[in-house]
Amino acid sequence: MKVIRTVAELVAAIRTYKVEQPSSSIGFVPTMGYLHQGHASLLERSRQENDLSVLSIFVNPIQFGPNEDLDRYPRDEERDLATAERAGVDIAFLPTVEEMYPTTTKTKVAVSELTSLLCGASRPGHFDGVTTVVSKLFHMVKPTRAYFGMKDAQQVAVLTQMVADLNMDVEIVPCPIVREADGLALSSRNVYLSPEQRKQALMLSQSLLQAVGKLEEDVLAVEQVKAGIIERISQAPLADIEYVEVISFPSLERLSEDTLLPAQDADTLIALAVRFGSTRLIDNIRITKK
Ligand code: PAJ
Repeated sequence: MKVIRTVAELVAAIRTYKVEQPSSSIGFVPTMGYLHQGHASLLERSRQENDLSVLSIFVNPIQFGPNEDLDRYPRDEERDLATAERAGVDIAFLPTVEEMYPTTTKTKVAVSELTSLLCGASRPGHFDGVTTVVSKLFHMVKPTRAYFGMKDAQQVAVLTQMVADLNMDVEIVPCPIVREADGLALSSRNVYLSPEQRKQALMLSQSLLQAVGKLEEDVLAVEQVKAGIIERISQAPLADIEYVEVISFPSLERLSEDTLLPAQDADTLIALAVRFGSTRLIDNIRITKK
């Protein structure tokens, strides 16, 4: 595995690869590091489906709000590189902030509408930071396929829209959410949770599974489904609900409160964000049509 830290070196390595192996495919997994099995699942898929597999690790400052966790975002480069090596990564790209954002930077990439609800509503500017850094990385890596987790379903929808709108020649591959044995979705931020918060964080996946279980037996309105989830999560005294939404995917339109679920005409997601102290967790589940 080659570890590259400068944009110039990465671009040169990709250019050489494309000249030497013109018909080969490049798989790409962008991350912010502190890799866990969720990231590893994307890396394994990239390895399986492509000739060259590229990982980036970059804690992207422009996707964090002023009061968010940029300064304390967990990092462990040594362990990440060992994980990457095991997952068959060919090139690991770990740029500095100065490499990615020279002081001369004046351009941003922004997707409208899809970014104004859910996490976009509570994290203004967050998705502009994501689309800007991911476009930059796409230009450097020139991937055939890029792998993203459905854990961040809105991110998948926003990036799919960006790629279509800007005619980027890359396939966005959505990958399933990887969970702990007890159901909690893996996240780099789970390390912030105290033992008691960690216990109560189980309510997130449980409330979603319970909702889907009920929908397998009954037809329910959006408002009933949301109320059931809110009631369940409220049983966790340390949980502070930011949103519970039922939306179409990937168009991210809110379903009206009286829509009966499972909806027949659209793929639907139940998505939620919950705070435990200063730690913000997200999760979602797909409602399958009968
Ligand atoms: P990060 O949070 O490090 O996540 C990197 C990728 O791993 C994302 O596509 C995310 O959806 C996926 N992922 C995280 N937890 C997962 C889980 N439990 N199961 C499956 N996939 C999971 O998302 C980002 O970084 C950044 O916004 C980034 C795209 C790198 C841009 O800075």
